[in-house]
Amino acid sequence: MSMKPETIDILCCPQCKNDLAFAGTSDSSGNSGGTLLCRSCGKEFADTEGYHDFLGDTGLKYSGKREKIVRTLYAKVYTPVNNFLFLFCGGAGNARREVMSRLELKDNYSVLETGMGAGENYLWMKGKAKNLRFYGIDIQKQMMEHCLENIRKWGIQAELFRADATDLPFKNEKFDVVFHLGAINLFPDKRKAIEEMIRVARPGTRIVIADETDKAARLFNVFTGANDKVTPPIDLVPGNMVNKTLEIIWRGYGYLITFTKPANPANFK
Ligand SMILES: C[S@@+](CC[C@H](N)C(=O)[O-])C[C@H]1O[C@@H](n2cnc3c(N)ncnc32)[C@H](O)[C@@H]1O
Repeated sequence: MSMKPETIDILCCPQCKNDLAFAGTSDSSGNSGGTLLCRSCGKEFADTEGYHDFLGDTGLKYSGKREKIVRTLYAKVYTPVNNFLFLFCGGAGNARREVMSRLELKDNYSVLETGMGAGENYLWMKGKAKNLRFYGIDIQKQMMEHCLENIRKWGIQAELFRADATDLPFKNEKFDVVFHLGAINLFPDKRKAIEEMIRVARPGTRIVIADETDKAARLFNVFTGANDKVTPPIDLVPGNMVNKTLEIIWRGYGYLITFTKPANPANFK
């Protein structure tokens, strides 16, 4: 595995948020590898094939055995199934555009997607601005592998980490663009996931969150057996965020939340 040496400067321990150190070596291109160590709590994070793993044996929590089977199968056939489901929303291209066009992408920006799945959104962003630096986290090993395979195929550089969206392994205020598409409805702690996105975003960053509405969830629940009613988590966005909006997209099957972290740190406690 390899990671750009400077990436260590934006990483932190996902639990205690303190600095990490490399326990490994550098290869001939100067890329660093090896286990990461938290300098404070002493936790170790393995360097696996293509990414650092901040979760080890922990991972997705399922409501039952049935949901586990369906979601594991879904990860295997993610792209075709998703493209099929997006047909209900006006097609995959339109559905992604409805969300992704809200990002404020500018040259040299660093972009974080939480729950990047197979990495389709990197393909969408490719070429939208010069020298975009892509980062992503996902909780499922299968999606990490899937995404690595895709970005290699597409000639996209992205630094990927296996981590939980509610405990991001990044230091405060490191990203110019932070977004999430497609899993927050299932997060056990949505508030924390939103707070983490805000924490790692630079002041002035617009944050974008999208997922299915209850109308879509009711269709999908036929397979997963899950039955929680979906409420777009706009009320969990802290009151000091500015320009908060909630829109219904994807022909009623999706919602889109946008807001901006105040540019003036005095407004952000
Ligand atoms: C429906 S997919 C969407 C993937 C991608 N964002 C896209 O637009 O194609 C949701 C992704 O979120 C990931 N995920 C689910 N819960 C997560 C969590 N707590 N932390 C990080 N990723 C999570 C899943 O593994 C999956 O890859």
